[in-house]
Amino acid sequence: MENFTFQNSTKIIFGRETELKVGDEIKGKGSKVLLHYGGGSIKKTGLYDKVTNSLKKSGIEFVELAGAMPNPRLGLVNEGIKICRDNKIDFILAVGGGSAIDSAKAIAVGVPYDGDVWDFYDGKAEAKEAIPVGVVLTIPAAGSEASPNSVVTKEEGLLKRGMYSELIRPVFSILNPELTYTLPDYQTACGASDMMAHILERYFTNTTHVDLTDRLCEGTLKTIIKNAPIVLNESENYNARAEVMWAGTIAHNGLLNTGRVDDWASHGIEHEISAIYDVAHGAGLAVVFPAWMKYVYKNNVNRFVQFAVRVWNVEMNFEDPEKTALEGIERTTQFFRGIGLPVTLKEMEIGDERLEEMASKATMNGKITLGNFMKLNKDDVYNILKLAI
Ligand code: NZQ
Ligand code: ZN
Repeated sequence: MENFTFQNSTKIIFGRETELKVGDEIKGKGSKVLLHYGGGSIKKTGLYDKVTNSLKKSGIEFVELAGAMPNPRLGLVNEGIKICRDNKIDFILAVGGGSAIDSAKAIAVGVPYDGDVWDFYDGKAEAKEAIPVGVVLTIPAAGSEASPNSVVTKEEGLLKRGMYSELIRPVFSILNPELTYTLPDYQTACGASDMMAHILERYFTNTTHVDLTDRLCEGTLKTIIKNAPIVLNESENYNARAEVMWAGTIAHNGLLNTGRVDDWASHGIEHEISAIYDVAHGAGLAVVFPAWMKYVYKNNVNRFVQFAVRVWNVEMNFEDPEKTALEGIERTTQFFRGIGLPVTLKEMEIGDERLEEMASKATMNGKITLGNFMKLNKDDVYNILKLAI
């Protein structure tokens, strides 16, 4: 096991009607709030009224910025920064999913910074200050509600890049599973694949003696595998929605990678796909992950065997362990397919025209490698994309 530091300061407020507490929760943390949300689902579902009433009841002034779209854009972030400065905003409340939250986090670090907020995303600067961010989550998926990350797309050059800073970890996140009843099935499925991918990025490691985190990863994966199909059949099954929602946070709050080296190559590759083709991140991962698995499994067959046996209950083939490993990959692929996701680029209507460009962008023109389970150069990334066709 590797040395590690674990601290997750996000307060999680979980359960029925917890969104009604949002005003009280902000009290003492901020006096003027930017309410930031997406394309309008929160108005249709009635959540907008509940949140704004709670703010008013607690005497909290707020200004609004709607329009954070899936794969949130830098243009809106800059608009948000200006609004915050003009209105002396001291707290940002994101109501929505990863896109609204990541956009809010970008605004939060951009406001006190003199330069271009993109500097944090292309590694030119490190954030020193941020406005606090709070969250009311409406889709379990990205895990941004308790993560120190934000992913934003710069329109010019279609660059999708992430930043990391403890300063942007939300101070609180309100998770009411009932708020996810209205999710379209496709978004529910994309969320499930994203959270599974967050676990798999951590599970596939060469670090040894990580029994506890292996078991935590396996347990969280099995919870999603059991409950995602249930919520797709019964959208208002509270307990199944609750299991999925909590799993999504656990998948990406830092606990599951304690003491182990994680990978993140598949996310790096997927971000290039969603940057160019604007597909849902979870759908892109359902395509990339199986291809990545097929490409790298020989690097550590035993880990893939363990995954197949423990997560998918594949019967161990002692004569030919590779067959067991491959069966685990096949079951993963079929699971994604079974919940209605694409598992090939073709199914997302993406051809092979821009594979080279994506491989090049993902590896900074071949200057860096991706991943740790197996270090991938530009040619490897290209080959994985080719396998995903
Ligand atoms: O925009 P609205 O109208 O709200 O609709 C959204 C959006 O169209 C809709 N939706 C959300 N909750 C709903 C709902 N519709 C009905 N009822 C509800 N309760 O769902 C759509 C998707 O929302 P979005 O916020 O884009 O989803 P998600 O949470 O999957 O976020 C994706 C973004 O997060 C990034 C991804 O790259 C992508 O840009 N990620 C962020 C991470 C992080 N910050 O730690 C890690 C992840 O790996 C990921 O990269
Ligand atoms: Zn993800």
